[in-house]
Amino acid sequence: MKVIRVKNYEEMSRTASEILIGEIRKKKNIVVGFATGRTPLGLYKNLVRAYRKREVDFSGVRSFNLDEYYPVAKNSRRSFFSYMFRNLFGLVNIKEGNMNFLDGEVRDWRAECARYEGLIRKSPIDVQILGVGVNGHIGFNEPGSSFSSRTRLVELSDETRRQNSGIFWRAPKQALTMGVGTILSAKKIILLASGREKMKAVERLVKGKISKDCPVSFLRGHKDLVVVTDSF
Ligand code: GLP
Repeated sequence: MKVIRVKNYEEMSRTASEILIGEIRKKKNIVVGFATGRTPLGLYKNLVRAYRKREVDFSGVRSFNLDEYYPVAKNSRRSFFSYMFRNLFGLVNIKEGNMNFLDGEVRDWRAECARYEGLIRKSPIDVQILGVGVNGHIGFNEPGSSFSSRTRLVELSDETRRQNSGIFWRAPKQALTMGVGTILSAKKIILLASGREKMKAVERLVKGKISKDCPVSFLRGHKDLVVVTDSF
């Protein structure tokens, strides 16, 4: 594990974008796992800026999104699908046919999760971008998630729902998420954390007990994990 301590959110975002752009330049048809939430917004802004300056080309990039609410309409402002278009995919030259999302509109979530796992098996993720929840969740793998969990339907904790809700919108009770095992199968993981409220989760990842009650702690054993943080 490599921990890059930065001063603030801007430096975290800049550092992460430099690392990811370097990886995209090395491998044109790279497979990137993308995360949502507030944390990666600065990274995505930097990627768009670099794309506009022709410093990076997304035409070969393939993507897998980490998670999605369930149920949720794709075109709802709250879906992670629309988040990605609004903040990155709609602003760079990534091809629609190269994007993969968990579909929060399906009835048969089991088939949907199996489909996603199959796709990831065929095109293993080269670089996974990750944030972390205050309670140590990664993707939507809440405390209690096992080390070997795969893509599945999960119940969201009240805390996570509260953090992800707005004044006029309450986050759904469930979500589809890559499992901890799925995330760990990525060749490289870049975890971003900013702010004091993430301090406990980051401490737990770097030097605390590895256990189910804090899923981010499971990442410690990964062979190529980069943590970029101002929280620690
Ligand atoms: C959500 C997402 C996670 C994200 C977490 C932290 O629950 N499913 O992928 O890491 O929130 O969000 P934020 O970056 O807004 O603090």
